[in-house]
Amino acid sequence: MTTLLRPVGNLTDGEVESVLQAAIAAPSLHNSQPWLFRCTDRTIELRADPERMLPASDPDRRETLLACGAALLNLRIAIGALGSAVDLRLLPDPADRDLLAILRPEGFARVTPHDQRLARAIRQRHTSRRPFLDEPVPPELCAEMRRAARTEQSWLATVAPAQQSRLRDILAEAHRVQQQDPQFRAEFEAWTARTGDSSDGVPLRSAGIRPAPQDVWTMRDFGTGSAPERRPGKEFESDPLVAVIGSFHDLPLAQLNAGQAMQRVLLTATAGGLASSFMSQVIEVPSARAELRGLLGGALWPQTVLRLGYGSPAPPTPRRRLDEVLSVD
Ligand SMILES: Cc1cc2nc3c(=O)[nH]c(=O)nc-3n(C[C@H](O)[C@H](O)[C@H](O)COP(=O)(O)O)c2cc1C
Repeated sequence: MTTLLRPVGNLTDGEVESVLQAAIAAPSLHNSQPWLFRCTDRTIELRADPERMLPASDPDRRETLLACGAALLNLRIAIGALGSAVDLRLLPDPADRDLLAILRPEGFARVTPHDQRLARAIRQRHTSRRPFLDEPVPPELCAEMRRAARTEQSWLATVAPAQQSRLRDILAEAHRVQQQDPQFRAEFEAWTARTGDSSDGVPLRSAGIRPAPQDVWTMRDFGTGSAPERRPGKEFESDPLVAVIGSFHDLPLAQLNAGQAMQRVLLTATAGGLASSFMSQVIEVPSARAELRGLLGGALWPQTVLRLGYGSPAPPTPRRRLDEVLSVD
């Protein structure tokens, strides 16, 4: 246990450690882990780390806020699973845009079996870039994921089969735009296909298999050419479930909530036996995002795009140590 830890509100130092470990298990763009935590006697603060923003892929820091929103949701779920209530303030200081949330664990909360399932899913969830089975996701699980997004003031839209060929074109165009941008490519290559001992970035073993050109619409090549080649019979699914998490406006509060919704959907999917990965190229390229917005009706703002299905387990990715992301008042 790091010596920085001590009790916060009604949590013991050991419980503080376990809820912070849950927070940093959250997904983040290229495993950049753009979060910082500060503990006082009564509160846990969550901050965005401006030094860990990825300027070529995420110049508006939307994906930074999504990742921090995911870490925040993990914190809330992990605290709740210990039987503690949480008082939560989002973006509490307009003069300090990196201060994203203040959590005050106090009072008691009833723990339901559903809360416990989601808490267990925090450590079971890993991004899977391998092919999924061509087996449809049951409508009840889709409905549960929709409810999960709504719980966090966001929405989840699934892309209808009739819209998939249009989405395929938008994604292929987004991919082409990014490949033509030398800054994007340099950043992508610096953060992915890592082989050494690194506590951040995406390891080569997490790249899955090398996508063929026709797979580019669902999968970016996270092995940057070095991942094992696809074997016959291991094709990517032809009709994946593509889910878009969106928000009612496009301000930081909506992006933070969309990150919480994304994580609640991912945990619900994991608890329901689904694997998941992301298709962010369509959000990162502004013209593609505008087209996706139009495809979904034009009223709401797409924040992240997920691919969901039944697949093989994916390996965990590394995380920085708690003492690298934690300060104590
Ligand atoms: C906002 C955001 C965008 C992401 N975009 C992609 C993506 O486009 N493609 C992909 O394969 N993974 C994407 N990821 C997944 C991250 O690479 C992954 O979360 C990170 O490597 C940590 O691994 P884990 O999810 O297995 O814990 C994204 C994650 C987040 C939070």
